[in-house]
Amino acid sequence: MALSTKPYKGARDFYPEDKRLQKYMFRTWRQAVERFGYEEYDAPILEPLDIYLAKTGSEIVDEQTYSFTDRGKREVVIRPEMTPTVSRMVAARRQELSYPLRLYSIPNLWRYERPQRGRLREHWQLNVDIFGVSSCNAEMELISLADYIFKSFGADHSMYQVRINHRGLVNEILNKYLALSEQSAYHVGKLIDRKSKIDQSSFLSQLDEILLDKEKLANVPEKLLRILSAKSLSDLPDDLKTSKDYQELAELLDGLKLDNAIYCPEVMRGFDYYTGIVFEVFDNDPDNNRAMMGGGRYDGLVGLFGVDPVPTVGFGWGDVTLANFLNAHHLLPELPPESDVYVCLVGDQYSLAQPLIMSLRRAGLNVSVDLSGKRLGDQLKTADKKSIRYAVIIGEEELKSGNFKLKDLQNGQENELTIKELVATIKK
Ligand code: HAM
Repeated sequence: MALSTKPYKGARDFYPEDKRLQKYMFRTWRQAVERFGYEEYDAPILEPLDIYLAKTGSEIVDEQTYSFTDRGKREVVIRPEMTPTVSRMVAARRQELSYPLRLYSIPNLWRYERPQRGRLREHWQLNVDIFGVSSCNAEMELISLADYIFKSFGADHSMYQVRINHRGLVNEILNKYLALSEQSAYHVGKLIDRKSKIDQSSFLSQLDEILLDKEKLANVPEKLLRILSAKSLSDLPDDLKTSKDYQELAELLDGLKLDNAIYCPEVMRGFDYYTGIVFEVFDNDPDNNRAMMGGGRYDGLVGLFGVDPVPTVGFGWGDVTLANFLNAHHLLPELPPESDVYVCLVGDQYSLAQPLIMSLRRAGLNVSVDLSGKRLGDQLKTADKKSIRYAVIIGEEELKSGNFKLKDLQNGQENELTIKELVATIKK
């Protein structure tokens, strides 16, 4: 039986046209985050398992990691996310680094998920993190940066929504306002995280299973549903409005001045390391009904590596959800191939034409040469199939005269030009 040509389940091959889209997305990401002063870092794709055990959360660690024991009996994981890695790196140089420290990376990550729209087993993720700022100016910068990135892709506010919550306020609601036991609070937190993926009746039945009898008697389900239906912070019960975390959230929403940013009590973020404000951005297209990016404050992670803690805020933004977003909102630009010009050879002129071809490259053009020995018409067809805009025809006569036929394959125009004119035309 022949070998399968399919890539591994949930992972993608990138042919040049796919790679072109990826390069466009990464380039736009890089330009935008560097505008805000973020510097790129990288790290190995393998990490020791224990850096995820403490705070990443059981769903990812128990169900989604690619983990194995290496030949030296070490437990290792193919990274499912970048946050523990960057925290490890900052901890390793805690004293030498200067703060605020702004870091970004575009790693590929592996999670054993059920492949579906917007979810694969391998994805790339822009990670942007700021270390050393405890005020919510850090959140403000990161959410503004995310908004700037959307604009860099040509998007406007009608296309996406920023949903913000505060883990501290959630704790206040669960522990104080609803007076849940520690155990119930933990599980209700996880259930809220899943709420958007299940229907109301299974939410209620799962809630019923979690709550203790005395919690049910205290009308916890009704109170919780009322809170989860809040459309803005002012809809919350007055008892919560004096809390520090409520005030911080109000300050952030006010300071952001984004008409598409809202308080959303359902945004929990699955990871256990978040300690403060959390946020997600949703695509408004109903076919892309999941978070495109998400992040928040996680002040405790760096400290787990045995150094003084560093206040930190960051987000991750996946390439799969971004591509779906750009597609749905018709924001994909034309992505021409890398070659500017295709050289068609008439007769066996390859070695004689070399100096000329090299001079085109030195002039700054990307030049691809047809080495097939096929008829001119077939060579032109190849250039067209590769979507290369220009073809230049080089034969014995052209080499002698110094005049070359340049064909614009977009509009069919042909011109006899000197090399200098040819370069100028293509560059224009
Ligand atoms: P996350 O919510 O797991 O956060 O992932 C962030 C984004 O990455 C998601 O909103 C989604 O766009 C994309 N993503 C995640 N998993 C997949 C998948 N299986 N297939 C395709 N896309 C996916 C984190 O990973 C945090 N570590 C982000 C962070 C950075 N928090 C602070 N700094």
